[in-house]
Formats: sequence, structure tokens, C-alpha cells
Amino acid sequence: MRKKITIIGAGNVGATTAQLTAKDGLADVVLFDIAEGVPQGKALDIAEACPLWGSAVSVTGSNSYDDTAGSDIVVITAGFPRKPHMSRDDLLHANANVVQSASEAIAKTSPDAIIIVVTNPMDAMAQLSWKTTEFSCRRVMGMGGILDASRFRSFLAWEMSVSPVDIETMVLGGHGDQMVPLPRFTTVKGIQVTEILKKKRVDALIHRTRNGGAEIVGLLKSGSAYYAPAAATYQMMRSVLLDEKRLLPCAAYLNGEYGVKDLYVGVPVILGKEGVEKVVELKLTKEEKVMFRESCAAVRKLVKKLGI
Ligand code: NAI
Ligand code: 2OP
Repeated sequence: MRKKITIIGAGNVGATTAQLTAKDGLADVVLFDIAEGVPQGKALDIAEACPLWGSAVSVTGSNSYDDTAGSDIVVITAGFPRKPHMSRDDLLHANANVVQSASEAIAKTSPDAIIIVVTNPMDAMAQLSWKTTEFSCRRVMGMGGILDASRFRSFLAWEMSVSPVDIETMVLGGHGDQMVPLPRFTTVKGIQVTEILKKKRVDALIHRTRNGGAEIVGLLKSGSAYYAPAAATYQMMRSVLLDEKRLLPCAAYLNGEYGVKDLYVGVPVILGKEGVEKVVELKLTKEEKVMFRESCAAVRKLVKKLGI
């Protein structure tokens, strides 16, 4: 039997994630949204592209959680995106209501699902979803680091005129302005990027990465990025459904790892059929530790504001 994925929120990120999933024939997809007709219309459009992609999966849209029942993976993209001059954190309370109600529904209709939270501010929303569902922390995670790493890889590739495919990197911390891209763990086919580029250039690209979401919001004027976010979400779903055991930066629950307790924040994890199968602890320098702790503190501040 094919696996079933539900995507809550049929907006830009949700519908694009559904499109990628259907195109690759990864799983049957249910698009859920409160807006009547929108998930149905977008699902129908995607379903009508499946013959052209050679894909036989089913893609449906719904306004009822009943249709999402028994999902293997549920992706939460419902909520409000950033507007120019808004930070991801400005979305906290509006999106908390949305994520909480979605998580309550998922816990009832798909009690065995693995949840991937995308809605911003993502790390705090992942923590909220985990608390609300009372699922094992292995089954609730957030998407942010893969996107940030992909942006950093792109900027580095353009700077060095090499393929982004050959660039490996790691971004730790919250998916916010204090994220921690790690040049020490950044290589081009094994060559340290710091051997190729001057520190000043690397620092400039780190700055652009931290500002990557805002750069796109500023250009679009309305709405935020969704092609790369959907691709990053798809990579997580694929690693779980196909038990690929990819090592990817995701928001995961820390219970002592990296010296942090009771907090969702971005770290490298092994993603497989059980969800977060392992949190990988990198040996950080003193300076990296300070940046990571600062980023954790920013996430914790939001979690405290939610009172969870
Ligand atoms: P969008 O506005 O295009 O779509 C959001 C959808 O959520 C809309 O269709 C809306 O009707 C729906 N919605 C609102 N309340 C709902 C509810 N209670 N139940 C079900 N659906 C509901 O927004 P977009 O661009 O898709 O972004 C979605 C979220 O993802 C935003 O919070 C955005 O900031 C976040 N995001 C996070 C990223 C990350 O790296 N973690 C990257 C990109 C976006
Ligand atoms: C981004 O980084 C808005 O979090 C979203 O593009």
C-alpha cells in the first residue's frame, strides 16, 4: 500500500510540497486548508499533471480532517507568512493558534504520524506541536536548517563558480536571524571553504544566508519564499518515507545534547522511518558554542512567550 502524506495549509509552501511529492510518486497526498475550494482546486490541478509526470499517486484536497486520517507524515505549513519588515518571530501568536489547532486534530486523526513543522517561527512551533500532540519527540521535527544550508550552498557556489552540488555545509540553531552557519563544516568536495575564500567573503555570505528569507520577502513584497522551502521539506519527507537515514540539519528536541535541555532547535540529525533517529553532536569551538547558545536563547524566549 502506498504511504499517505497530509499537508496542512494549501498555500504556497504546502501546494508546492504537494507538487514535488506527486511528481516523484513518493506517496498519496491530501492537501488540507480551511479556505473552501482552495485545497480541492490545487489538488485537482496537481492530480491532472500526474499523467504527464508518469506518476500514479492520488492527490486530493479537503476542508475536513476526517480525510487526513491515518497519514504516515503530516506537514504543517498552515498559517501566515512574513510581510516586508516583519521578522519570523512577529508571526508567533497568530500562527501558534493555527499550529495548536492543527496539532490537536492530527493527534486524533493520525496518531501514528510523523510531523514536520514548517510554519514560522518554526522552532517554537515545533515545540508547540510536540507539546500539543504528546507524540514522542522522535516523531515531531521542524524544517529550517536544510533551507538555510541550501541558501548558503547556493551563495558559495556562485561566489566560487563551482557546482552547488559539490558543496557540503551545516547550519545550526534556530531558523531565525541568529542561525549559525558553520564555515568549519563547509567544504567543496572535501576542501575547506576557508582555504578557498577569504574570511571577509565567507562572512558576507553568512550574512546573506541569515538574511535569506527577508531578501526574498523584500523582493516579492507579498508572501515569502516557497520553492526552496518546499524542496527542503520534500527532502525530509523522502528521508523518512524511504528510510534513507540522511544526515540533515532539522529542528529536533534536545534533552541534554549540546548542553541544551527541553528545547526544539536546529541540529544535525539522522532522519529515517522512526523520525529523528539520532541527534548528531558536533564538536564545536568556543566561538561556535557561544553563537549556538545565543540562537537557542532566542528560540527559548519565544517558547516562554507561548507559556509552554
Ligand atoms: P500562504 O499564505 O501561502 O499559505 C498559508 C495557508 O495556510 C493558506 O492557504 C491559509 O488558508 C492556510 N491556513 C490558515 N489558517 C489555517 C488553519 N487553521 N488550518 C489550515 N490551513 C490554514 O503561506 P506560505 O508561504 O505557504 O507559508 C506558510 C508558513 O510557512 C508561514 O508561516 C511561513 O512563514 C512559513 N515558512 C517557513 C519556512 C521554514 O523554513 N520553516 C519557509 C517558508 C515559509
Ligand atoms: C524563509 O526563510 C520565511 O522562513 C522563511 O524564507
